[in-house]
Amino acid sequence: MESLDWGNLPFGYVKTDFNVRYIFKNGKWGNLEVSSSEYIDIHIAATGLHYGQEAFEGLKAYMGKDGKIRLFRWEENAKRLLSSADGIKMAAVPSDMFKEALFKVIQLNKKFIPPYGSGATLYIRPLLYGSGAEVGVKPASEYTFLVFVTPVGPYFKEGVKPVNMLICRDVDRAAPLGTGIYKVGGNYAASMRAIIAAHNGGYSNTIFLDAKEKKYIDECGPANFYGIKDNTYITPKSESILNSITNMSLLEIAESLGMKTERRPIPVEELATFVETGACGTAAVISPIAKIFDPEKNKIYEYCKDGNPGVMTMKLYNKLTSIQNGDEPDPFGWITIVD
Ligand SMILES: Cc1ncc(COP(=O)(O)O)c(C=O)c1O
Repeated sequence: MESLDWGNLPFGYVKTDFNVRYIFKNGKWGNLEVSSSEYIDIHIAATGLHYGQEAFEGLKAYMGKDGKIRLFRWEENAKRLLSSADGIKMAAVPSDMFKEALFKVIQLNKKFIPPYGSGATLYIRPLLYGSGAEVGVKPASEYTFLVFVTPVGPYFKEGVKPVNMLICRDVDRAAPLGTGIYKVGGNYAASMRAIIAAHNGGYSNTIFLDAKEKKYIDECGPANFYGIKDNTYITPKSESILNSITNMSLLEIAESLGMKTERRPIPVEELATFVETGACGTAAVISPIAKIFDPEKNKIYEYCKDGNPGVMTMKLYNKLTSIQNGDEPDPFGWITIVD
């Protein structure tokens, strides 16, 4: 095993030994290639560089107490990449190729999987981009699919410590009929200004509102939003947010814990009625929210007043992470063992 300071890893890039790559050319995918280079050779007219023909995924591998490596719902990431590829007219990555790439890159970099109990995980980043040259705005005829891994600590440095969020009304991450439902780079470029403004103001991240009416909660930077009240887990339904696999899982876990669930538009004012709120995603897992500030209305919504995450949030967090780490059986069939 690599000697890294596992307990203090940032959510950042750490070099590993290998990545895997495939090229789509003449209408078909080539074979898996293993590379030890952190760099790609890219055509100066590649559509991925000029026209944002680029989509990615993010998932994690977890080392269990039993020494087994677990992947969480990778099939959902494969499906979402298919949807993103179709959304911006790129070549489709078949699910079996996606799986082959994940297994291979994990096996090749086994020594970088953080040990059980360190709080860190192996983050897996599949990337698909137009690598063929075009000058006019049209889809490339050549694509590259690559997967690299990097060991990471939690995304929100605070871990399960409650964080503060800033409502953003002057930047839209995605339009209702745009690409917000796809995991494509352009959405993240569009979100940078707002994220930096939130960080500069001392906030952990930003809450985007629906772009059309600015009435409803969309999502929390790179994570979905949820609120809890009356034993009900409520999360936004929107045409411009990424369908989070973590959120999909929390909806099911909430029901299994006897909670009701709702997926519907959440008006900003409803924030005043929640007992607990949080941000959820692969990187963040769950970040309970302590405070949400709405600068335009000069209003603060407060939760976790005793400084601790809410009871239901912790139940959801514990159940999800126990399944991911293999501490509890997986009644949902979400785990794949990598051997
Ligand atoms: C914009 C956005 N929303 C939500 C999520 C959470 O999705 P998931 O739970 O599938 O990681 C992510 C991260 O992947 C994201 O980038």
